[in-house]
Amino acid sequence: MSTVGQTKRTTTATIEAMKGTRPIVSLTAYTTPIARLLDPHCDLLLVGDSLGMVLYGMETTVGVTMEMMIAHGQAVMRGVKHACVIVDLPFGAYQESKEQAFRNAARILKETGCDGVKLEGGEEMAETVSFLTARGVPVFGHIGLMPQLVNTTGGYRSLGRSEKEADKIRRDARAIAEAGAFAMVVEGTIEPLAREITAAVSIPTIGIGASAACDGQILVSDDMLGLFNDFKPRFVKHFAELAPAISKAVEAYADEVKARSFPALEHTFQPKK
Ligand code: KIV
Repeated sequence: MSTVGQTKRTTTATIEAMKGTRPIVSLTAYTTPIARLLDPHCDLLLVGDSLGMVLYGMETTVGVTMEMMIAHGQAVMRGVKHACVIVDLPFGAYQESKEQAFRNAARILKETGCDGVKLEGGEEMAETVSFLTARGVPVFGHIGLMPQLVNTTGGYRSLGRSEKEADKIRRDARAIAEAGAFAMVVEGTIEPLAREITAAVSIPTIGIGASAACDGQILVSDDMLGLFNDFKPRFVKHFAELAPAISKAVEAYADEVKARSFPALEHTFQPKK
């Protein structure tokens, strides 16, 4: 089979090899049109289970299903030519056993065509990460604040201030790197600890609320685009203010519809003369 003319997307091996070169640029994507817009600027796009909260209005990510991840993984893959695409394993799809994790990870790879899967967890998930990577599934780890554990950890807060907490995160980082993950998300972790972990592990750390000391950054796209007026945690920067822009556009549309000034002549089909 000829590969001439095929676009080569960024691989997980390329992402891993970027450690120590330049910061890795990542964002979440859930749909084809947004993936198309983000793709030229990003090394990695994550179809995160945050889609449960961002797109479906869920309170947490716990209710997200395999079907949702696969549908959105397929949608993102249709819009991407360049970036490495990773799809989250949702809560309940990998914690039961390493066999269950493989079955669901393989399904995601086969049905979406993405480059790898992400799963949350440190030491307790190391055996699973090693099982998956040995069987051809590239794994993106996720340590520090783990949103899927909200029901046992009790909420969202930055971590690593106590020595006990910092030590657990250090052990998690080492375990996931040694188990063969190609990179790991470090979420909601104080800067000195994120810096220490980044220096200690051989794979890239991708920070979210974990400082510029990480090897790369990720944000939820809808957050950095300013689509939520009522949610702006400290670690999020609005690079645009789309929520007020959308409100203004919809208000203008409603006014013109009510005034019958839209659709105008140029938007209207007429019989041929
Ligand atoms: O689900 C998600 O979008 C994530 C990122 C925020 C890292 O896990």
